[in-house]
Amino acid sequence: MIAPSILSADFARLADEVAAVAGSDWLHVDVMDAHFVPNLTLGLPIVEALLKVTDIPMDCHLMIENPERWAIGYAEAGAHNVTVHAEAAREPVRIARDLRAAGAKAGLSVKPDTPLEPYLEVLREFDTLLVMSVEPGFGGQKFIAHVLDKVRMVRTMIDTGHLNLLVEIDGGINADTIEQAAEAGVDCFVAGSAVYSAADPAMAVRALRTQAANAAHHLT
Ligand code: DX5
Ligand code: ZN
Repeated sequence: MIAPSILSADFARLADEVAAVAGSDWLHVDVMDAHFVPNLTLGLPIVEALLKVTDIPMDCHLMIENPERWAIGYAEAGAHNVTVHAEAAREPVRIARDLRAAGAKAGLSVKPDTPLEPYLEVLREFDTLLVMSVEPGFGGQKFIAHVLDKVRMVRTMIDTGHLNLLVEIDGGINADTIEQAAEAGVDCFVAGSAVYSAADPAMAVRALRTQAANAAHHLT
């Protein structure tokens, strides 16, 4: 699965930019609050507006403090998947249960240097694990390869029946990095600058999907 990140799109033409990635598996929307990360992007009103102009399942990545207060609104609005950060969530299990009760998938994200071990139990309550492969906050950064150790670990747990999750990766994914991520066991690849810097974003999505599928057995 490929999830284009509209963080790299033209915010003055968002509906057109979403239409330009028709055929994507998920649409990745980065919500930042200028507290959890040093950047401010968009929030629920813009997500609600985008939900009206696309059928692509929306993947809301909340880089915000106090997700206990804010995450549920994105599920109630109709987001397909809502991801909160492990570093910000004080009650991740409650958030996951609330998101699922509202009809959304629940995601947990970890920053590059956050270990997975403390969250393995909690992850049983979640549908997706979003492994950050850059420090959250900005698009266009360089891929941090050591996070693939976490991907390999969780892939093994999934393959041995100890967890049931989609593994998503976010940050620095492009034609040079997607194969190593696929080999490590990623299911869903977020790509911002690699998609939106392409002359034909929808074609870039298809090319990344083919490249990932050819690199890894679990994707075919
Ligand atoms: C960064 C965001 C990413 C970002 C990825 O904090 O979570 O989704 O858009 O952008 P690229 O693909 O350019 O690294
Ligand atoms: Zn993101």
